This record gives sequence, C-alpha cells and structure tokens, in this order.
Amino acid sequence: MSDHPLDHATHQVHAAQAARDKLAVKAFFDEPTNTASYVIHDPATRRAAIVDSVLDFDAASGRTSTASADAMIAYVRAEGLTLDWLLETHAHADHLSAAPYIQQTLGGKLAIGREIITVQNVFGKIFNVGTEFARDGSEFDRLFEDGDEFAIGSIPAIALHVPGHTPADMAYVIGDVVFTGDTLFMPDFGTARADFPGGDARQLYQSIRRLLALPDATRLFLCHDYKAPGRDSYVWETTVAAERAGNIHVRDGVEEDAFVEMRTKRDATLAMPKLILPSVQVNIRGGQLPEPEENGKRYLKLPLDTL
Ligand SMILES: [Fe+2]
Repeated sequence: MSDHPLDHATHQVHAAQAARDKLAVKAFFDEPTNTASYVIHDPATRRAAIVDSVLDFDAASGRTSTASADAMIAYVRAEGLTLDWLLETHAHADHLSAAPYIQQTLGGKLAIGREIITVQNVFGKIFNVGTEFARDGSEFDRLFEDGDEFAIGSIPAIALHVPGHTPADMAYVIGDVVFTGDTLFMPDFGTARADFPGGDARQLYQSIRRLLALPDATRLFLCHDYKAPGRDSYVWETTVAAERAGNIHVRDGVEEDAFVEMRTKRDATLAMPKLILPSVQVNIRGGQLPEPEENGKRYLKLPLDTL
C-alpha cells in the first residue's frame, strides 16, 4: 500500500537526522491541564513556531490569564526568534488556546487541519451558534491537508492528518521530530481517548500505526502527560522505537480489533475533561473569545444535558 505523505516524511526524517542543524525544541508544561506546549526553531535562521499554546483559565472564577503564554513570548524574545507559525494539532478539549494573544504580540500564521470545519459544524450545533459563525475554517490563516508541506526556516515540515481523537487531528513532522498531538502518549500511559463527538477508535489506531511507521529514531513530542502509575515526573518526549516496543495500548503486535475494544471500554469509564465546554467553544473559533455583550463582558455558554 502506498502512502506518499508518509514516504515523504520518512525521507525527511532520515535527511534531518544527518543534517548539521537540528530543530531546537523547548517545552513548556502546563500542570493544571497536563499540556505540553512547544517553542521550536531552526538554529540556522532563528525562524520559529509555537505548537499548542495554553491560555490559563480558572473555571470557578471565569478568569483568564496569560502567564503561560507570556513565558513562551519571553523565551521567543530572549532567543531572538522570529515567529512564523502558530500550529494547533487539533481543537483541544482540555485547555483554551492562547494563539490569538501570541499572534497579536509576535505575529505568525495560525494553522490547524482542514477537518476543523467538521468539528466547527458538530460543535457549532451543540453550542447553537448562529449564522454569524461561518464554520468554514476562516478563523485560521492556513488549513493543512494530509501531506501539505511547509518549513520552519530551512527545516522542512510535513502535516499529516491523524484523525481518531477528533476528526481534525494533525501531526506535524518537522525535520526529524514529530509533534503527535493527541494520538499517542508516553508508552507507559498509552493513547488518547476517542469518544468525543466525531472521535473514532478504529481511525485512531490507524493514525497511530501510521506515525509508528516512521524511522525508529524519530523523536516524538507529545501533547500531554499524566504521569503513569508508578512514575513520579512528567515526560513528554519519546521515540518511535520506544512506542513500538512498549506502548501499553498500541505496541507492535496489538491488533486493530483488540485496540478498538480496549479503547471503547476504557473511554466509557472516563469523565468529560473539566474544561471541555469552555475549551471547545473557544478553540473552534481559533482561540478567539466570544464577542463582548453590550455591557462589555464576554460570556461562555454551558449546554445542559448534551455531552
Ligand atoms: Fe485533545
């Protein structure tokens, strides 16, 4: 079976492993949402991207803050980087994106997968957003399709469509590094859930096995870590070889049907993420907060008895 984007990504990884300038990756871990965000750059040109930023949000008070985003902005400035891209792996259900705030401050193009339009339609109905919400992806500057190419300075990159957790998930293969989004977690924790509206465990398996067909030494940077039982520290970096050898859900030898059965059973036991309603409501609009009402205040909706 031929898979041109994956063949292309494989060649890219091999070439990047031999190259002198490797993608520099700086992780910022947000403990309240277990999210790993990244500032990445090409050391030769100092062009940069930010992957999956977090806008701090306290649900009890309804208060947002930019402390996490400001830390990333300070790093970009201290390193003398130029921000070209704000990459979202998907419409996150556990945190609000800080992409619009960072974009206002540092510039750069906001990108996500083209299937975000599907997610906008599904959740547009759930939130009963009217015709003022276009649901055509126009809140983003670039909608990636499977195999689309871009670059961070002189380092080539390929977007891979890896649906299953949501219909719109993308993984970004940049040099010899993959930002996996919500597909895989660390080998001792397993995989992302597949039970959100539009999720599909069978698709998730196929997407993950596709990523694991990349060369063994490919570096993987994950979107989340939750500390597996028995592990005391957060970890967000691994390799294709380590996942293939030891992922508790999808290591080599685990068949698709067995994975789907396991994932479906496990998902039935999981509560909804604490911030799913605020997060998705904001993130399907590219991280833009709702427009203020006539009193100048912004409001989020809580659909009752829906999810
Ligand atoms: Fe997610």
